[in-house]
Amino acid sequence: MNIIVCKSYDEMSQRAAQMVAAQIKSKPSSVIGLATGSTPEGLYAQLVEMCKNGELSFKDVTTVNLDEYYPINPTNDQSYRYFMNYHLFDHLDIDKANTNVPDGTAADPVAEAHRYEQKITDLGGIDLQILGIGRNGHIGFNEPDQKLMLDTHVTDLTPDTIDANSRFFASANDVPRQALTMGMGSIFKAKSIIIMATGANKKKAVSAMLERTVDTSFPATMLNFHPNVTLICTADVLE
Ligand code: PGA
Repeated sequence: MNIIVCKSYDEMSQRAAQMVAAQIKSKPSSVIGLATGSTPEGLYAQLVEMCKNGELSFKDVTTVNLDEYYPINPTNDQSYRYFMNYHLFDHLDIDKANTNVPDGTAADPVAEAHRYEQKITDLGGIDLQILGIGRNGHIGFNEPDQKLMLDTHVTDLTPDTIDANSRFFASANDVPRQALTMGMGSIFKAKSIIIMATGANKKKAVSAMLERTVDTSFPATMLNFHPNVTLICTADVLE
């Protein structure tokens, strides 16, 4: 795993944005895997800035997001579709038809998971995947478990994730109990991966990932198997 340690959140966001921009410049029709959460907000602001300056175009880019709550309506301001439109897609020259987020309104979530996995395959996999890391070591909504799923699937959120995400909702009771998420195999189809981490509450998760052992109760450790992963983090994560 390559590691880039940054002095500040802004620097972390800039370094990640430079890597995304380099990917899109080298292949304008790139498939970029995206993540939600507070960690990549600065990265998205940088990409919007680059697009507004005319430095970068998303005209031919396709995006696939890692996950979405289930059930949830895209008009709900806590849905990941809403988050992506608000922070990124509404400000880019991207064709919205080329932005993919699992459908939190699907009547049959299992069928939706299969459709989403097939979509990733049909796109030829992901060129560059952006990831955050949960404080419990989750990647997307691949929660700690005895077994991890390879493909996009429906999953129950763990109490720790419900607690971590309740800060965005009126109360923990309002956090959806399930999600649609890419599996570890879907994520591993990415040719390269950037994992971003910031803040002391990610220390435990990042140090477990850097131990160079693999443990399904800490899904991020699986990234040690991938040949092209870059951790971009702030120094407080490693202290
Ligand atoms: P965060 O979430 O960026 O809001 O910390 C990361 C995650 O849970 O994967």
